[in-house]
Amino acid sequence: HGTSRINDQGHLEIGGCDVTDLARNFGTPLYIVDEALVRQRAREYVEAFRETGLKFQVAYASKAFCVMAMCRVAEEEGMSLDVVSDGELYTALQAGFPAERIHFHGNNKTPEEIEMALQANIGCFVVDNFVELHLLNAIAAEHGKTVNVLLRVTPGVEAHTHDYISTGQQDSKFGFDISNGTAFRAVEEALKQPQLKLLGVHSHIGSQIFEVEGFRMAVEKVAAFSIEIRAKLDKTFSVINLGGGFGIRYVEGDSPLPVGTYVKAITEAIIASFTSADYPLPEIWVEPGRSIVGDAGTTLYTIGTSKDIPGVRKYIAVDGGMTDNPRPALYESKYEAVLANRANDAAKEIVSVAGKCCESGDMLIWDLNLPPVETGDLLAVFCTGAYNYAMASNYNRIRRPAVVFVKDGQADLVVARESFENIVGNDVIPERLRKQA
Ligand code: LLP
Repeated sequence: HGTSRINDQGHLEIGGCDVTDLARNFGTPLYIVDEALVRQRAREYVEAFRETGLKFQVAYASKAFCVMAMCRVAEEEGMSLDVVSDGELYTALQAGFPAERIHFHGNNKTPEEIEMALQANIGCFVVDNFVELHLLNAIAAEHGKTVNVLLRVTPGVEAHTHDYISTGQQDSKFGFDISNGTAFRAVEEALKQPQLKLLGVHSHIGSQIFEVEGFRMAVEKVAAFSIEIRAKLDKTFSVINLGGGFGIRYVEGDSPLPVGTYVKAITEAIIASFTSADYPLPEIWVEPGRSIVGDAGTTLYTIGTSKDIPGVRKYIAVDGGMTDNPRPALYESKYEAVLANRANDAAKEIVSVAGKCCESGDMLIWDLNLPPVETGDLLAVFCTGAYNYAMASNYNRIRRPAVVFVKDGQADLVVARESFENIVGNDVIPERLRKQA
């Protein structure tokens, strides 16, 4: 997919770059991002919305993969940006991302984070709870500023996805509940805050969703809520944000819908629900993360040791693991991979791919069909663009890998591999523990 192919030497090539060259030049493990594919995905959203003629914003959910180069690409592709922490906000601002296109999310924004975002004049705060509502108003008042807000509501929709990544149901740490009147009170309260300009509501039902039904139901709930608010509080929303969660294909058997299908389902539901109530059509905002960067990422590893347990299983170990991709350990996520330096060789051995961390759960792929492997071979694991680098850790004091963007035969470093200096960079040995000379 994307610009990936197998070249004449039987090597995997991405963005016109032979991955064996990338391994030589940048080392492994290495995150490789197919920049053209990221841009293509972004355009699919923007174009699908443009065709509807409605007003819209496609905000890239930067939590999926937030580095300065990615913020540049998001800006160039006309996207807005969703951030959820001071660190993501800082990254975006350092990359020169236009503040007015930044939306700030999160269920526990600290006063310092709110302050920082206010100073930067970001475009919108997505307010999650009553404490934040009042805190934001108070801090905005100190600065003599008025801020745009959306209220995050829980529509009571459960998307079919992993428990930890589904968020639309009532029993969730996020948002104001529509069903028990909390969201209604939140709107009343927001309208009383002099520094807050309430644009509308936000709903996010979960992640890695393969069907449109959940989105359609969320739209219906949110539309009914908007209509009730207009009737009872005489407030008309100008923005409805439906969050992210559009699924991607990690392995055969995953069947995501084309981006256009999600967009069509959402916009049609909006048009149907709002026009039937004679409600002026709101702007539609969405926040895809995974579906912008997920399948554009590939992680390249060097295969090291192996262990054969006759009649049971053969393990092969790579030079990374749960430190660069914690998703299999956390969510039992499945991945596909190929032997990148001999991609044409016939696969005839079932192996399981282990990481190098001191933990039995550090497995990347169970039962993968590969050609017979040798130490030094390269393994490419696909679809690692989202929530991999973003969730990487230094467990076992392993250094985070480098990230390169590849495009038209050019490979550009966008994140350097961590150094040993980085590893001990924040360590301090108190005077009393220092080694005596
Ligand atoms: N908007 C909000 C408010 C969100 O909470 C999320 C994801 C998104 C947008 C983007 O969702 P996406 O389009 O990427 O599905 N670490 C998990 C995923 C957690 C998603 C959290 N929120 C994973 O690795 O699968």
